Amino acid sequence: MTNLFRFPQGFLWGCATAAYQIEGSPLADGAGPSIWHRFSHTPGMTLNGDTGDVACDHYRRMEEDVHLMAGLGLNSYRFSISWGRVLPEGVGKINEKGLDFYDRLVDRLLENSIAPMVTLYHWDLPESLDNRGGWLNRRIDDWFAEYARVCFKRLDDRVKLWVTINEPWVIVDGGYLHGTLAPGHRNLFEAPLATHNLLRAHGRAVEEYREVGSHQIGIVVNIEPKFAASDLPEDLEATGRAHAYMNRQYLDPIFHGTYPEKLREMFGEAWPDWPAKDFELLRTPIDFLGLNYYTRGVVRHDPDRIPEKASPVRRKNATYTETGWEVYPRALTDTLLWLKSNYANPVVYITENGAAFYDPPVVEGERLEDPLRQSYLRKHIQAAHAAIDAGADLRGYFVWSLLDNLEWSNGYSKRFGIIHVDYATQKRTRKGSADLYQRIAQSNGEHLRTFQ
Ligand code: BGC
Repeated sequence: MTNLFRFPQGFLWGCATAAYQIEGSPLADGAGPSIWHRFSHTPGMTLNGDTGDVACDHYRRMEEDVHLMAGLGLNSYRFSISWGRVLPEGVGKINEKGLDFYDRLVDRLLENSIAPMVTLYHWDLPESLDNRGGWLNRRIDDWFAEYARVCFKRLDDRVKLWVTINEPWVIVDGGYLHGTLAPGHRNLFEAPLATHNLLRAHGRAVEEYREVGSHQIGIVVNIEPKFAASDLPEDLEATGRAHAYMNRQYLDPIFHGTYPEKLREMFGEAWPDWPAKDFELLRTPIDFLGLNYYTRGVVRHDPDRIPEKASPVRRKNATYTETGWEVYPRALTDTLLWLKSNYANPVVYITENGAAFYDPPVVEGERLEDPLRQSYLRKHIQAAHAAIDAGADLRGYFVWSLLDNLEWSNGYSKRFGIIHVDYATQKRTRKGSADLYQRIAQSNGEHLRTFQ
């Protein structure tokens, strides 16, 4: 019983962030603007017109933030590179100053024994590439491969874990179908094209990596297990569609070389016939899968919702976070075991897990208590452990997020950090969840026994 919650040796305990959400200074030192810069500066697109112009000012406070991570006892950190800092036009001329920032970040991390996991694309496409069609242009596989190669060549001597793309489903569903995220399109016909080009670009980056890199590379998907709101056949069918659309759409091509058949039905004439040779590229072998898990979805049939004809249902007597997501840790265990049995037991990292809850104001000298976030993290880490016990090959866990940050179109209204950020002063204050996570990380999970 003593080792009840001990995690495998070498397990990574980290926090995750993304460039546009924390860095600020989006145009500094020769960086080119991204679609998120343009989108957030377009009136009406983000809550209160919030932008990433300052965010957590991490671009200028990076050393202080690495110091905070070291204080948390983390042995890993997942961050993303802003494509436009490295290649202001998306391709062509390299901006050395932008690349230098990430180079310094990697060095500071390693000096503190924190292993970097680097995401190449966390949603901030260079605007100049979007002007050429962005993810709708088939040539983006070349553009992404060029950018990826620049990053690999500069950092692979020190970075051992790479992620090509973060959450292709969210990019497409929010950015191309419902318009809630950059670039803000609403077009059923564009969605499959963007999906396919994201996956092609991912495949090309992996190919590049096999030529110039010598460590490990994968992709990050967000999985939300779907449960039927009732036993009615129409709700059960809606659940299957929602699952194919949100979850299987991005895993089946990579692991099996096909899209789920249901997608063709759902998209109808908007679903193209893809060149057969593309699927070889899509299924280029990866070294690990990154799983972002936040919640499950309880769904019912809804003919008005495109393309899946299924809508989420809010349940009575359940706990919801500030983003309206049900707290449901058990489905994290189920998801890890589903990945194991359906996709040949891949090496998995939980690359994001966390919650936005109301946080009280900071009072000087007092600990900022966030009991709901603490309970959320604890229960999810326990659920992850249950999956390891049942044979899942889980190698690490990253909290979303290190700092409160720009929650995309929700602006600064949602706080996911285990460290509070006062946006007026940029003062960082640890929350109770930071203390809890430190204890869990430093004991390699054993601290969880306290809660049995
Ligand atoms: C994204 C993050 C985001 C988080 C919470 C994920 O979809 O990767 O950028 O802030 O979830 O919404």
